[in-house]
Amino acid sequence: MSMHKVIYDTDPGVDDAMALLFQVRHPEIELLGITSVFGNATIEDTTRNALFLAGRFAPHVPIARGAATPLVREAPGPLPFIHGNNGVGDIELPAGTDPAAFGATLDPRPAHRFIIDTVRANPGEVTLLAVGPMTNLALALAEDPEIAKLVKQVVIMGGAFGIHGTLGNVSPAAEANIFNDPHAADLVFGATWPLTAVGLDVTQLTIMSAGYLKALRDEAGADGQFVWEVSRVYHDFHLSSEGLDGIYVHDSSAVAFLVRPDLYTVRGGPVRVLTEGIAIGQTIQKPSTMPVPAPEWDTRPSQSVCIAADYAGVLDLYRATLLAAG
Ligand code: RIB
Ligand code: CA
Repeated sequence: MSMHKVIYDTDPGVDDAMALLFQVRHPEIELLGITSVFGNATIEDTTRNALFLAGRFAPHVPIARGAATPLVREAPGPLPFIHGNNGVGDIELPAGTDPAAFGATLDPRPAHRFIIDTVRANPGEVTLLAVGPMTNLALALAEDPEIAKLVKQVVIMGGAFGIHGTLGNVSPAAEANIFNDPHAADLVFGATWPLTAVGLDVTQLTIMSAGYLKALRDEAGADGQFVWEVSRVYHDFHLSSEGLDGIYVHDSSAVAFLVRPDLYTVRGGPVRVLTEGIAIGQTIQKPSTMPVPAPEWDTRPSQSVCIAADYAGVLDLYRATLLAAG
C-alpha cells in the first residue's frame, strides 16, 4: 500500500467537504494539514468550515488560515446559492469561531508558511492537493521558490481545457478556482513541480446522481448521511441552473486522481492562464505533440491535464471508500 502525505488546500465549500471526507476515509492518505483559502465563501467562513470539518472528521489534523484575497484581483463575493449561506450547505454548525469549540487546532502560521515548513520537513514526500484558488501555493512559491523541487507532486482541481467543448463555469472562458486568482494559477502552472490539473473537462462528466446520493445516505452510515445533508443546497443549484438531478464531482475527482491515477487519461504540455481581458482565467495548454513554436509556452515546464476518465470507476471508488470505512 502506498501512502500519500497530503496538505489539503481548500475553500470549503460543499464539494470540498465531501472531498475531505473521502481523504480521511481513504487508507492510503495521511493528511498533514488543511490550509484554507477564500473562494466559495469568505476566508472567515472557509476557515471556520475547515475547523468544523477537521473537528468532526480529522481532529488531529491542524488547520492553517490562508489568503483572504487574490494576488491582484479583488476577492469574489460568497456563493450562497451554490454552497449555502454558511458555505457548507447550511448544515448546522457550532456557534462562534473558537477552534476548541470545534475540537480542532488552528496553527498559528499563515497557510503559505505552513506549506513551506511542512514540505521542508518532509522533502520529496508531500502532495499539495489544491481545490480552491491557487493563492496559498503562489505565496509559498514566492517566499521559498525551492519548495518546487521538494514537493512530490501537485494535484489541483481547476481549469477547463476545451476537451469535449468544455469552456468554463463562471464565464464562457474560465473555471471558478482559476478565475478567482488567475495570476496565482499562472505561477503555479509555471513552477517546476510535477502538476496535474483535474479540470471541468472530467469533473463535469463525473456526476453523483440523485439515486447515487440516496444510496450513499442509506448505506454509508453517518458519512452517507453527512454527504446527503451537506449536498442539499448544492443539488438544488445543479437542478435549477442546469436541470441536472445530481451534482458534479469537482474536488473529490482530484482525490480520486491522487489515489487512482489509472482511472484518468492525461495530456502533457505547458499551460498558461490568461490574466486579463474578457477571457481572464482561461487555461490553455500547448500539447507536447504540437510542433509549432509558442514562446509564451515553450519556456515553461510540461504539466499534465486530465482529458478523460473512467467516470463510473471514480464514483465506485468514492462509494467503496466510505462503505469500507463504515
Ligand atoms: O469549479 C469548481 C470548483 O470551484 C470547486 O473547487 C468548487 O469547490 C469551487 O471552488
Ligand atoms: Ca473547492
